[in-house]
Formats: sequence, structure tokens, C-alpha cells
Amino acid sequence: MQVDEPDQIGRYVFPNAGEPVRRLTASTSLALTPIKVCAARDEVAPLLAPPWMIDRVLPMMTKPALEASETSTAEGYATLVAGAGDVLIAMAVTNTHDIVAGGRVALIDDVAVFDQIWTHEAHRRRRLGSRVMRTLENVAVQRGAIRGMLVATEAGCSLYSTLGWRVYAPYTTAIVPMINQPGSTVRSSPAP
Ligand SMILES: CC(C)(COP(=O)(O)OP(=O)(O)OC[C@H]1O[C@@H](n2cnc3c(N)ncnc32)[C@H](O)[C@@H]1OP(=O)(O)O)[C@@H](O)C(=O)NCCC(=O)NCCS
Repeated sequence: MQVDEPDQIGRYVFPNAGEPVRRLTASTSLALTPIKVCAARDEVAPLLAPPWMIDRVLPMMTKPALEASETSTAEGYATLVAGAGDVLIAMAVTNTHDIVAGGRVALIDDVAVFDQIWTHEAHRRRRLGSRVMRTLENVAVQRGAIRGMLVATEAGCSLYSTLGWRVYAPYTTAIVPMINQPGSTVRSSPAP
């Protein structure tokens, strides 16, 4: 899959650990092109040919029945939704017009994929992350989405667990460190 972002050229995604992962790592060693596998570290690590290495393991989470809900109001913040086509963005804005939280959802048939959920450090634990998630869930439901999925950080996992999301599988990322690329000394760290 082509990504074309500064820290990631593309990515390979596998639904489980198996021979295709082993064959791929034996035949290619491109940095900035991670392999992502819905499997645990212990299942993926033995399949990796050097210089491939495990970069991180994050939880993949799902919400099998998305539902519309009231988005609570937080004093001093407004919530905005923008976007066209199948990608929608929600953000929380202060009354001085600073964007202090946000996230996006991509709609693929009846599945909504939530991504890049964040709250500025100075505004955390004020329910803004919850509000962004509920806002995105509402627009996804309005657009016909039934199920939700995402890959979470540790903090994200705690947030999503309070909103009815459950861990579905570990999601392991393997990379080729940049140090193995000619002319480079920087180690790659691709996005989730
Ligand atoms: C994860 C993140 C978006 C949470 O945003 P937030 O606005 O602080 O979240 P909320 O205030 O809505 O949190 C609601 C509840 O979720 C849980 N929660 C949220 N962040 C948590 C954390 N860091 N640790 C433990 N629980 C957490 C708590 O139960 C919290 O309720 P409480 O404050 O009454 O205890 C924010 O910490 C963040 O931007 N982190 C860095 C980027 C990131 O990891 N994004 C997630 C990508 S998957």
C-alpha cells in the first residue's frame, strides 16, 4: 500500500503471521516501508530476516456496533467537523480559535477507521478526546458505518476503553532501520 508521507513511503499489511511475511522480509529490505501484521511480537519476530526488526506492538481495537450519542459540551470549547468524501475530520477549538484536539475517520463500506486522535498536552483530561471520538462516531453512523476499528497507543487504549472499544488483536510493526540504508544514519520511526 502506497502512503507517500515524509516518514513512510508505503506499508505492507498482513492479516496474520505466516510464510508471506517470511518471504517478503527475505526478499526486500527497504526503509520507510514497514510491515504491519495482526499478530503478537512472538509470532512475527521469528519470521524476520535481518535487517528487519520489531519496531513496536500496539493494540488493534474494534467497536462492533457504532452508535450515535450526545456529545457533551465542555465550557470554552467548540467542536467542528470538516471533510469531504470518505474522510472526515473533527476538532475542538478554544474561544480564541486555537485547535487543541482533533482526529479523523475514514469510511470504507460499513467500516469506520479512526485515526490520529490527539489532544494538546495543556488541554488533556477535559473530555476533549472523548468528544472528538463521539463526534466522529456520530458522523460515521450518519454516513452508514456499522463497525469501528483503529490502532491505539497506550493512552489511546485507555481513552477508547471508556467509550466501548475493545482490544481485538496485537498489531506488530517491523521495520528496516535507516542505519542500514546507504548514506543514512537516522533510524526510521514510521507512524502507527
Ligand atoms: C489519548 C488522548 C487523545 C486522550 O485525550 P484526552 O482529551 O485527555 O481524553 P479525555 O479527557 O476525553 O479522557 C477520557 C477518559 O479516558 C481515559 N484516559 C484518557 N487519557 C488517559 C491516559 N493518558 N491514561 C489513562 N487513562 C486515560 C480516562 O479514563 C479519562 O477519564 P478521566 O480523565 O476522568 O480519568 C491524549 O492523551 C493524547 O493526545 N495523547 C497523545 C496522542 C495519542 O496517543 N493519541 C491516541 C492515538 S491512538
